Amino acid sequence: MGSIRIEGSSAVVTGGASGLGRVTAARLVELGAKVVLLDLPTSPGAQTAKELGERAVFVAGDVRTEQDAERAVAAAVELGPLRVTVNCAGIGRAGRTVAKDGTPYSLDAFRQVVEINLIGTFNVLSRAAAAMAATEAVDGQRGVIVNTASVAAFDGQIGQCAYSASKGGIVGMTLPIARDLAASGIRVLTIAPGLFETPLLGTLPQPALDSLGAQVPFPARLGRPSAYAELVAAIVANDYLNGEVTASMAQSAWRLAEAEAERPAREELASDSVRPRAKRCGSGRLKPLHDGFQRNRAPRRPCPGRKPGHWV
Ligand SMILES: NC(=O)c1ccc[n+]([C@@H]2O[C@H](COP(=O)([O-])OP(=O)(O)OC[C@H]3O[C@@H](n4cnc5c(N)ncnc54)[C@H](O)[C@@H]3O)[C@@H](O)[C@H]2O)c1
Repeated sequence: MGSIRIEGSSAVVTGGASGLGRVTAARLVELGAKVVLLDLPTSPGAQTAKELGERAVFVAGDVRTEQDAERAVAAAVELGPLRVTVNCAGIGRAGRTVAKDGTPYSLDAFRQVVEINLIGTFNVLSRAAAAMAATEAVDGQRGVIVNTASVAAFDGQIGQCAYSASKGGIVGMTLPIARDLAASGIRVLTIAPGLFETPLLGTLPQPALDSLGAQVPFPARLGRPSAYAELVAAIVANDYLNGEVTASMAQSAWRLAEAEAERPAREELASDSVRPRAKRCGSGRLKPLHDGFQRNRAPRRPCPGRKPGHWV
């Protein structure tokens, strides 16, 4: 199989000093990669790199800054062909669109969250992609980019206006960027995790964490960062994954509970919409696009000239 050979390659992991990024960097090192951790100068990045051993290097910088992204990519290229980039740097700043006292959410806060989570992700991935595109292809593959969205991209809660906007942007850009980079042999995927046990949640007291975990139907606990890192490793290894958002990692209990409540309606819909739909209207449900990515051809709408209940 022509999957990316991690051993001897280099990788960039943003937000690599902490949480999901840190555990992913450790996993990539274990798999034989040389890993650059791009994280803030105030982060424990230097200490983390030391703990990960000689195959890990810390580059202090901000994902929003072009020069910092370029420095991280250049440091990785020095270590070996850049094959893997994982965007984990991110922040959240909770707040309602209009607070109970009538104050609108700070535009500066909104801008900061979008700049770090969304623009920072694009900044690093675009520079990394340029370096990957310049490497020798192995069985047609040059590299893989993994971004981190969140279940909040699809199911934002009260107080997540900025965070959800930033993560929704990551989801939205995944497919077009995968299309852009297909000709260069670079795959692009996004993981949209549910709640994970990382320092991001560290300020919550243990009973609150336990209660959040217990609300997840199965497994009834918060995600372990190693599950995220394993998914990154699987994405890197599987050369036929591309342009997708993986949003199934124990999503918020709220979302699952809602889905459960809607099940009878969805089952009814599904039994009506399998095979016959395409036959009734004489058109394929999925239309292959020229580059192989498939999407539902059109939103559900009544089939002209048919009685209600017939859908394309
Ligand atoms: N933990 C969860 O439950 C969860 C759920 C869904 C999505 N996520 C996402 O996963 C990613 C990692 O989160 P985590 O839980 O590991 O958080 P974390 O706080 O442990 O790690 C985030 C890292 O990003 C770094 N960072 C922040 N701003 C930066 C900037 N401007 N430039 C460079 N580095 C910067 C921080 O210093 C930190 O080391 C984030 O994008 C987060 O939104 C986390």
